[in-house]
Amino acid sequence: VNGPSAEVALVTGASSGIGLATALALARRSYTVVATMRDLGRADRLVELAAAAGLAVETDVLDVTAEESVAGCAERLLARHGRIDLVVNNAGMGQIGSLEEVSIADLAEVIDVNCLGVARVTKAFLPTMREARRGHLIAISSIAGVLGQPFNDGYCAAKFALEGLYESLAPVAAEFGVFVSLIEAGMVSTEFYRRSVETGVSDPGPYAQMREGFVRTADGAAATAQSAEDIAELVVSVAADPSPQLRYQSSPDVTQLLGRKLADLDGQRVLRITRRWLS
Ligand SMILES: NC(=O)c1ccc[n+]([C@@H]2O[C@H](COP(=O)([O-])OP(=O)(O)OC[C@H]3O[C@@H](n4cnc5c(N)ncnc54)[C@H](OP(=O)(O)O)[C@@H]3O)[C@@H](O)[C@H]2O)c1
Repeated sequence: VNGPSAEVALVTGASSGIGLATALALARRSYTVVATMRDLGRADRLVELAAAAGLAVETDVLDVTAEESVAGCAERLLARHGRIDLVVNNAGMGQIGSLEEVSIADLAEVIDVNCLGVARVTKAFLPTMREARRGHLIAISSIAGVLGQPFNDGYCAAKFALEGLYESLAPVAAEFGVFVSLIEAGMVSTEFYRRSVETGVSDPGPYAQMREGFVRTADGAAATAQSAEDIAELVVSVAADPSPQLRYQSSPDVTQLLGRKLADLDGQRVLRITRRWLS
């Protein structure tokens, strides 16, 4: 059981996947963990796994798309613990569909969850961290935050926006002793991709053949996916780093791919890669 003076960490989207694994990994490292999710009815798996491992994990409700929900959770956490040391912005959603196939409402939703959600949670905890002159804000980004991918228009727009948000905040927060980090994950075997495909566009039409090609490419990449636990271990080590970087990639392959993207100033090399993903 974690001691009373343990550092306090909040994780969003802790009902499944990377968020769940991160909540457990942090509890194992003696953080006081507040594992949040939009629907507490989905807490059973985390609660059972924590109990089986003899770990203390608190759960609370937090919907990153609702300002009152974020504010309420922050208020309860600060009243109970009086400090916040680490926020892991993990909640996210995918969306499969090319721009013409998705509505503006679909785009707004994916940007709301993946980017504005991080902004809401950050705004709720930054004042306390700034005053304490300590704290670490981590966001789970993606290859999709650096490299535009076909049939991921909304998701990439959202993760690119997240990268811009946190890169811009980082130098200013650092002046107050608050660290900001982005973790750029490659494919991870969670429910994420299946959910993205299931809730995404699947209509016949001019894009169907290319979309099937892309899904085949993504299915192929799934064979080499990392585990949620791999990403959770990376989060734990980033959180423990006394002088953390702004960006971390989840594997050497991701570093290599994003390095190629970032060196490609006219974008032609990226297009050669991503066009291949359609067949
Ligand atoms: N899996 C990958 O290949 C991959 C790769 C790179 C980056 N990522 C990123 O990793 C993060 C976690 O994804 P995952 O792979 O672990 O997938 P996941 O199992 O689908 O987890 C996503 C989590 O976000 C939560 N969530 C969705 N909307 C929310 C909202 N409005 N408020 C609070 N929580 C919300 C979900 O809650 P519910 O259970 O209530 O739906 C779920 O707990 C995401 O930011 C994702 O973009 C994933």
